[in-house]
Amino acid sequence: MAKADVPESGWDVGLYDKSFGFIARYGTDLLELLRPQPGERILDLGCGTGALAAEIAARGSQVIGIDSDPDMVARAQAQYPALRFACADGRSFGLDEPVDAVFSNAALHWMKTPETVIDCVARALRPGGRFVAEMGADKNVATITEALYQALAELGVARAAVDFPWYFPRTGAYVALLEAGGFEVTYLHYFARPTPLDDCENGLADWLRMFGQNFLNTAPANRAERVIERTVELTRDRLCPDGRWIADYTRLRFVALKPAS
Ligand code: BEZ
Repeated sequence: MAKADVPESGWDVGLYDKSFGFIARYGTDLLELLRPQPGERILDLGCGTGALAAEIAARGSQVIGIDSDPDMVARAQAQYPALRFACADGRSFGLDEPVDAVFSNAALHWMKTPETVIDCVARALRPGGRFVAEMGADKNVATITEALYQALAELGVARAAVDFPWYFPRTGAYVALLEAGGFEVTYLHYFARPTPLDDCENGLADWLRMFGQNFLNTAPANRAERVIERTVELTRDRLCPDGRWIADYTRLRFVALKPAS
């Protein structure tokens, strides 16, 4: 996963693989939309620990995975030594040779200047190449973030103090950006995907520790745990009504083509 804004310590890649494997599992579906072909060159943008890059390679394509987090890249390289991974920022990367497709799962929402990302993707693709991706969209994790804001407000922290870490676009806005970047959008789907946190031993609390750093870092000294507890309390009725935590994810999935000429 590429991120525009990482916690100072970076990702806990062990916890990521252990408790958030669902991210890559959901991405397997997206491979059906990518349909990697033997011999194709494919870039996995925001490859995280490399599970989907490995799936792409298993289908006979030549894959390059990039991620802005060095720990993620190191883990990907250790797990899949035969594949090529590099540390690069989704907003400024460049490739030596163009690729047939750029693939991205659950990463684009960490890159807060989408125009620059789309521009890099367009430059990385050969004419006629495709951009196939899924990202968090408008209202993604809204129940969780509203509860975080409330928990912080109860401790005297203003909403404006939080550097909101994600870009969750509305459908129309993202289509406009892709078109402005020269792409032809051939498929786009916005949908709610309630996401069980079954591998998170501590349910939503684990999710908050993994992904909620920008919120937790604004808590007064020694009160981050209180913010977690209160957020859990505020969301339990909606997100864990039967004892199983289900996060309120929404997705934007699309295929966009770079014109052949
Ligand atoms: C997502 O995949 O939508 C997501 C993951 C972590 C934080 C926020 C969103």
